[in-house]
Amino acid sequence: MTKAEIKELVSRMTLEEKVSLLSGKGAWSTVGIPELGIPSINLSDGPHGLRQCIGLGWGESVPATCFPPAALLACSFDEGLAKKQGAAIGEEAQAQNVQIVLGPGNNIKRSPLGGRNFEYFSEDPLLSGHIAAGVIEGIQSKKVGTALKHFACNSQESRRFLIDEKIGERALREIYLASYEYPVKKARPTSVMCAYNKVNGDFCSQSKWLLTDILRSEWGFKGFVMSDWGAVDNRAQALYAGLELEMPGTGEVNDKALTKAVKGERSAMPAGDRSFKGKLTERQIDKAAARLLEAVFALYEKKTEKPCDYEKHHRIAAEIARECMVLLQNNGNALPIKGGKTAVIGEMAVRPRYQGGGSSNVNAVNVTKPLDEMSKYGETEYARGYSLDDDKDYSLITEAARVAGGCDRAVIICGLPESYESEGYDRKHMNIPDSQLKLIDEVVRKQPETIVVLCNGAPVAMPFVGKVKAILEAYLGGEGSGEAIADILYGKANPCGKLAETFPQFLENNPSYTNFPGENNTVNYAEGIYVGYRWYEKHKISPLFPFGYGLSYTTFRYDGIELSKTDMEENEELQVTVSVTNTGSIDGKEIVELYVKENNPRVSRPEKELKAFKKVLVKAGATEKVTMKLDRRAFAYWDDVLHCWRTDSGSFTVLAGGSSDNCPLSAEVRVNAREYHKPLTVHTMIRELKTHPKGKAFIDRVCSIGGEELREGLFGKADPEWPLRCIVTMCGQLSLEKLTEITEEIGKE
Ligand code: BGC
Repeated sequence: MTKAEIKELVSRMTLEEKVSLLSGKGAWSTVGIPELGIPSINLSDGPHGLRQCIGLGWGESVPATCFPPAALLACSFDEGLAKKQGAAIGEEAQAQNVQIVLGPGNNIKRSPLGGRNFEYFSEDPLLSGHIAAGVIEGIQSKKVGTALKHFACNSQESRRFLIDEKIGERALREIYLASYEYPVKKARPTSVMCAYNKVNGDFCSQSKWLLTDILRSEWGFKGFVMSDWGAVDNRAQALYAGLELEMPGTGEVNDKALTKAVKGERSAMPAGDRSFKGKLTERQIDKAAARLLEAVFALYEKKTEKPCDYEKHHRIAAEIARECMVLLQNNGNALPIKGGKTAVIGEMAVRPRYQGGGSSNVNAVNVTKPLDEMSKYGETEYARGYSLDDDKDYSLITEAARVAGGCDRAVIICGLPESYESEGYDRKHMNIPDSQLKLIDEVVRKQPETIVVLCNGAPVAMPFVGKVKAILEAYLGGEGSGEAIADILYGKANPCGKLAETFPQFLENNPSYTNFPGENNTVNYAEGIYVGYRWYEKHKISPLFPFGYGLSYTTFRYDGIELSKTDMEENEELQVTVSVTNTGSIDGKEIVELYVKENNPRVSRPEKELKAFKKVLVKAGATEKVTMKLDRRAFAYWDDVLHCWRTDSGSFTVLAGGSSDNCPLSAEVRVNAREYHKPLTVHTMIRELKTHPKGKAFIDRVCSIGGEELREGLFGKADPEWPLRCIVTMCGQLSLEKLTEITEEIGKE
C-alpha cells in the first residue's frame, strides 16, 4: 500500500475504528480490521533471539536460537557482526510469522549494578549506537521490523515504572540520547519503544520533547513509537506526545480515553507536559493511525514464513560468541591449553549460564556445555565445585581441589547464578557467590596452573585476579557459548573481543555510586557526562580492567598514525590512518580504537572520548593500515545554553591504541570552528561585551542615551564581571526596561 492509499483508507474509517488500531490485540499483535483489509501483525521479544510466546501467555515460548546477549555482542566492536546476528534473527522471525522483533535494547550502562545490563551494549554511546545499528540493519534486511528500545534512559530496573531521572541536558545529549541518535539516523528502525521511566518529570511515553521534538523533528524518524509493556500512564497525553501504539492493548479502556479526548470530554487530564490541555484533534488520531498502518502493511506484505536452518544459526551464534569473549589475563601464557589433563570445575560447565532472565529469555534450541566441548579437545576430569541452587553450600570444594591437584591444570567455570541478575531488579553488589570465591582459593592452593572462565552479564569483583593465571570473560554467550569457550581455551580461536564497559576495582569507585538507584522515586544523574571510562579517567581512578581492553594470543605493535590534515574547518572530515603490526607468530584480530581529546577546552570535557573503531585481521608478522574517519561530531560537545552541538576552535589530540588505557599513538589537529555567542541580555557580563558581535552596537546605543562618558567610565573601568543590568545603578537615564529593550532590539538587527 502506498502512503496515499493509506491516507485514503484512514479517511474512510470511523473515529472508533482508527482508535482501535492504536493499542495492541492482547500482548503480541496489532489489531486488524478484516472488513477494511487491515491485517494484524505479530510482535515478539527480542533482542538476542525470538521469544515468541505460545498462546496469549507470558510463559512458554517457541524454540529459537539464543544468540549472544548484547553485553557480549558489543565486545566484538564490529557492526558487521552485529548485522549478521540481526539477519539470522530476522530469518527466524520470518519462519515464525513474526513481523516485528522487540529489540535491540540500547540503554547506556550507567551502573555496573543495572539488573538488565546484559541486555544493553555499552557505557559508551558511540559503541552502543553502532552495534545497535548493525542489529537493526540485519533484522530489517530480512524484511522484518525492529523496535529500538527503551527510549530513553532506562538504565536501572529499580522502580522502573515510576522513577524520575534527573539528567542534565548535556549528559542527555552527549551520552543517553546519543546512543539512539546514530541508529535512528543510520539504520532507520521500524519503530522505537519508549521506556517506562520519567526523564526530568515526564514519563517517556508522554514526553513530546523526546518522542516528537527530538526523535521525529530533529532526527527525522519516520517509523512509529510503541510503548513498553504497560508504560502508558495517560493515553491521550501519550498520543499527543507522539506515541502511536500502546502495548499491550487495554481492551476498551484507553480506546475510550482517546475518543473522549477527541470529543472534548475532559476525562484525560494533563499530567507532566504542560503543553497538553487534555484535548486531541481527529487529525492527530489520523496521523497516528496512518503511521502505524504504513509499517503494518509494509511488513505484512513482506512476510514469507520460509523454513529456517537452526543448525546453521547455532553455528553463527557460536561464531559470534568466539569473536566477542574477552581474554582479561594470561600470565605465563597459561592459555591456550597445550596438552595434558584438565580439571574442569564448576557446575556452570554442565549447566551453562548463557543468557539473562526476563522478557529476553529465549527457549534455546541447542545449548552446548563447556565440559562436553572441552572434552573433544583433550582429557578432562570434572568436579562440580559449587552448587548453583545453593550458593551457601561449601561441601563440594574439597573434592574439586583434589581433582584439580591431580591434573595438569584447572579451569574453573563460574560467575553469577541466574538469580543474581535479571530484568526487574538491580544487583546490590558486584560479588560472585562466596562459595565460588572459596573454591578458587582452594583450587589454586592445589593447582597453581588455574584458569577462571567467567559467565556473567555485567562486571563482577575479582579478588582472585592476582592468584589465578588466566581469566577469560565469557559473559553470557548464547547457546553456542560452550563451543566458543572451548575453542578459545584450546587455541582453535584466538580471542579478539574487548570490554565494552569498565570493570571497576570497587563498586564505590563507579560514577553512579552515591546516586543509584535513587530515593523516593527520583534518581539524580549527578555524574553528568562522566559515565564509564569518562569518569574513571577524569578522576584518575584505576579500574580493574579498563574500557576497550582485551588480550590476544598474539601481540600487536602500533607503528604510526597519519592525519589527512593538521588544520581543518569544523565541517570537514578528517581521515586517520593507523598502522598495526602483528608481532607474534599466529594470526589475530585487533580492534583499533580512536579517541579524541580537546586540549584546552572552554567547558569541562572528558580526558578523551571514543570516536571511531575498527576490527582488523592482521596475519602473523604482517602490518595493516587502518583508516577511520572523524566528522564534525567527533570534536563537538553539547552547549546547554545555546542548545546545540558546538565545536570551539582550538587544538585537539587524536589518540589511537588497543585499549582506553593504552593509546601509544597520538597526533594533533587544529580545528577552526564558527564562533558561538549567547544572545545579549541584561545578564551578559561587561567582559563578554568586548568579544560579542553585538557588543559595539550595544555600547554605542547606551552611550547615545547615557552620554559618552559611560564608554570610558563603565566599559573601560567597571568590573568586567558585572552583568549589564548594573548599568542602571550607574546611569539614571537607563531603566532596566530600557536596557532590556535595547538588548532585544539589537538582538534582532
Ligand atoms: C520489557 C520490554 C519487552 C516487553 C515485552 C517489557 O517488560 O521492558 O523490553 O519487550 O516487556 O515483553
